[in-house]
Amino acid sequence: MTIRSEILGCGSYLPERIVTNEELSATVDTTDEWIRSRTGIGQRHIAADGENTSDLAFAAAQRAIEHAGIDVADIDLVICATATPDNTFPSTAAKVQHRLGMTQGAAFDIQAVCSGFVYGLAVADNFIRAGQAKTVVLIGAETFSRILDWNDRGTCVLFGDGAGAVVMRAMDEDETSASGGNGQGHNSGRGVLSTHIHSDGTHYDILYVDGGPSTTQTVGHLRMNGKEVFRHAVKNLASIVDEALEANNLERSDLDWLVPHQANKRIIDSTAKKLGMSVDNVILTVDKHANTSAASIPLALDVAVKDGRIKRGDLILLEAMGGGLTWGAGLVRW
Ligand code: COA
Repeated sequence: MTIRSEILGCGSYLPERIVTNEELSATVDTTDEWIRSRTGIGQRHIAADGENTSDLAFAAAQRAIEHAGIDVADIDLVICATATPDNTFPSTAAKVQHRLGMTQGAAFDIQAVCSGFVYGLAVADNFIRAGQAKTVVLIGAETFSRILDWNDRGTCVLFGDGAGAVVMRAMDEDETSASGGNGQGHNSGRGVLSTHIHSDGTHYDILYVDGGPSTTQTVGHLRMNGKEVFRHAVKNLASIVDEALEANNLERSDLDWLVPHQANKRIIDSTAKKLGMSVDNVILTVDKHANTSAASIPLALDVAVKDGRIKRGDLILLEAMGGGLTWGAGLVRW
């Protein structure tokens, strides 16, 4: 019996408060036209005072658990991908685990910034394949509004707060076959087909936070060399999508959906063009959510599953790049 992970359900949560580009331009020296034309962003959600990453994460996890129709008692691993945890320690995942009413299983955070969800998918999938976990709640949750320098117009207009989650469960590969039969081969069954993650610390300082417990003993602010990040994103994402398809003997034309990290519409367009995919097959939420870092992929996934675009059996490519640099992809048959 070969085990793989099936994604049983998803959920997401966005803070109530929406800040449009227009509203932002009242306090930041920017315009709606500048932000839209360079990034595709029109608005972002911002967490309320006292609303923390764990609150967003918990709400998304609850919705994913409900959508998956599982019992909390069955969960044996909670992973939260975040670069904006409630506290330096313990993990935000431990807080979510407690709020879910769990004392069983394990909980930990993953830190790969905007690639956090794809890294989490790789970790969760490997835990499941190794037989060390059977039912995993994987969350991406962020409150980037708390680490932005609101006087730096080059960065503060780009990010937003939010959370998304999926429930993953161990399945016998034969039972995941999309057509219900046995022996359909690795590619035809539902679930996570493969994950691919990379990092290169050479470029640590083109996207980083200038604070931390060990350096400044402050939380710090996000700093970015936008042009350099853009250049690396286009290059690394082009190579990771090829790597994911080749590993599965699949063609670009086999893909039904691209669910990319939502940093910038121009970066997404460039990846879609490389894949020869029409904009109609790309899930785009950056206009409404801005860049929610580790939360952006599960948020976009949830939007497209709930509005009926993504259907059982569809082949989905997830990809992201973030600070580190880190980048990665996952191929999933829904
Ligand atoms: N509103 C108005 N003007 C702005 C601005 C804003 N919010 N931010 C920067 N500018 C100005 C700059 O001051 C500069 O003015 P100058 O020419 O008078 O000096 C001009 O716009 C161009 O700035 P630049 O930083 O060179 O713009 P850009 O074309 O590189 O676009 C980004 C900036 C951030 C949109 C772009 O580099 C980008 O998208 N990078 C990738 C970022 C990303 O996705 N990060 C997350 C990865 S996970």
